[in-house]
Amino acid sequence: MSEISQIKSETLKIAQKYLPERRFLLAILQDIQRHYNYLPAEAMKTVAQYLNVPLVKVCGMATFYKAFSLTPKGKYIIKVCDGTACHIKGSLNLLSEIETILGIEPGETTADGLFSLETVACIGACGLAPVAVINDEYHGNLTPASLRQILQQYQGGIEDAK
Ligand code: FES
Repeated sequence: MSEISQIKSETLKIAQKYLPERRFLLAILQDIQRHYNYLPAEAMKTVAQYLNVPLVKVCGMATFYKAFSLTPKGKYIIKVCDGTACHIKGSLNLLSEIETILGIEPGETTADGLFSLETVACIGACGLAPVAVINDEYHGNLTPASLRQILQQYQGGIEDAK
């Protein structure tokens, strides 16, 4: 099966959990985002057909919400907090360590598709500043050296590292 037909059929499976009604557009896009970590163009076309809504409406919603990404993201999404507390405690050093190790800046994904890097505003864990979240896991009181170790665990396959 080609990649495009595979995306079509997977998307249809996700969409068919909902009735083909416009009010489910947001929920379907959220499920697709969770499945692929982004919204492939082919998936948006398939959803437009399934719900019988113009593609421009689907794209409009996809670009309106910050939670959606139109470009592929890494398996692990590193969110470095750059709120005030984290900034004072050295979040910029963490970002520059990540750039040294992985060669990516915020908004970028490594060529092997393993990591994407983002900065976020305060995530409510200022007592642990500076903080980064990798997928859903919080890592606090980070130093460039401890962050390097953590990234190595993810590079080696986090499940093996636990
Ligand atoms: S400023 Fe980073 S968690 Fe609050």
